[in-house]
Amino acid sequence: MAIKATSFLRDGSLLKTQCYVNGEWVGAASGKTFSVDNPSTNVEVAKCPEFDEHDTEAAIEQAQEAFRSYRKTSARTRARLLRRWYELMIENVEDLARIITWENGKPLADSRTEVNYAASFLEWFSEEAPRIYGDTIQASNANCRLITQKEPVGVCGLIAPWNFPAAMITRKAGPALAAGCSVVVKAPAEAPLTALALAELAHRAGIPKGVVNVITALDNTVAVGKVLTTNPIIKKVSFTGSTPVGKLLMQQSSSTLKKLSFELGGNAPFIVFEDADLDVALAGLIASKFRISGQTCVCANRILVHRNVYDKFISMTVEAVKQFRIGDGMAETTTHGPLIHGRAIAKVEEHVKDAVSKGARVVHGGKRLDLGSNFFDITVLADMKPGMKVGVEETFGPVASFYPFDTEKEAIDMANDSEVGLAGYFFSKDSSRCWRVAEALEVGMVGVNVGAISDPAAPFGGVKQSGFGREGSKYGIDEFLVTKMIMTGIQ
Ligand code: SIN
Repeated sequence: MAIKATSFLRDGSLLKTQCYVNGEWVGAASGKTFSVDNPSTNVEVAKCPEFDEHDTEAAIEQAQEAFRSYRKTSARTRARLLRRWYELMIENVEDLARIITWENGKPLADSRTEVNYAASFLEWFSEEAPRIYGDTIQASNANCRLITQKEPVGVCGLIAPWNFPAAMITRKAGPALAAGCSVVVKAPAEAPLTALALAELAHRAGIPKGVVNVITALDNTVAVGKVLTTNPIIKKVSFTGSTPVGKLLMQQSSSTLKKLSFELGGNAPFIVFEDADLDVALAGLIASKFRISGQTCVCANRILVHRNVYDKFISMTVEAVKQFRIGDGMAETTTHGPLIHGRAIAKVEEHVKDAVSKGARVVHGGKRLDLGSNFFDITVLADMKPGMKVGVEETFGPVASFYPFDTEKEAIDMANDSEVGLAGYFFSKDSSRCWRVAEALEVGMVGVNVGAISDPAAPFGGVKQSGFGREGSKYGIDEFLVTKMIMTGIQ
């Protein structure tokens, strides 16, 4: 596989096709592998080890061994290690971006943005590591002194998705390492090479062996997930993925009562009020709805537009999407790439068919493209009604569906009519309305007159069935810490 890498990477040694356990590159004990395909071309780009339960348990034990000494390192040492890992990512942006595009399909420009975003979590948490504080508390008994200190929770299982194969790992591993934890990362089966390249950079950064372990599996994903959520050594699981899988992992984790943070599915409302600046709203929509062809948890999924500006805003959207260039992510001219695989295409197609059968109007796109089996046209649907699948489930594709509304209350009720609550966006020039609506939306993150809300400084996470816990920001490190109370009696 390294032969292919040398032709498109500056540093071919970043392309790793074995798992990284205890500082060594290893295959599955069974010798089994699975293929990783480029979604633009369906051509196999590499084979990775098919780890099973036993391989996973061995990795967890190594992480436990490493945790014993890593937890005792000074916060400043951990900060420097994370900082070095960050610098190495920045030095290798171009190669990492190419690996992401190769296995995930997103356009190179988006991949470069992702690598910088991913690295920013290592930078952020390198700065947080030395700023972990406890309290002194007035004890009820005058003869006692009471303090708290924060300690690393222990070995963490990190289960990462394919849509941001770099950023969703660093957003979890950054705070874990800053807190003094060791990690076993289950790389996404669709895009494991990015995770393995990050492991190589962690190695070069001098992160002690066993502190970062990265394992891969496709057919054994469920079995590996089960080990990560039931093995008693693992004290914390951080997962980004769908709500149904989150529910299963939570159930499994209950057997050993692990600390959990879950970032699950979204169904983001995107509201355009009649007093909005429509150009600003359009820029927000393009950023939110069509980022990596609609395959993010925070993508706008239901676009609610005041009836007075409904037709105009749809026309503006159609004009904007006509400028997109859909194609192979590796071509510099491509603005929007393929979806990840056939199942993703089938879901988008089913959602569009369902909406049309219930009265929606296709204003643009609406079908597969001839560019390869994973390409779907940028699609604009009007006259959406409640109960259509696009509005109920997360479409995770390039479908912009427009619903008209008449009053602020109606818009809020429609926006909150969902079991999940990750992100929500709205556009208005009325500052009182901005506060009212921001507070009324049942979501964990609100974008007011902005469609791009991802920032290492911002707490990322949801409410309702979008999960719990926060990633990034000053809150992100708490997810990997436990509070210990120490009471001292004095004579
Ligand atoms: C996600 O889709 O889960 C993450 C999106 C982001 O961090 O911006």
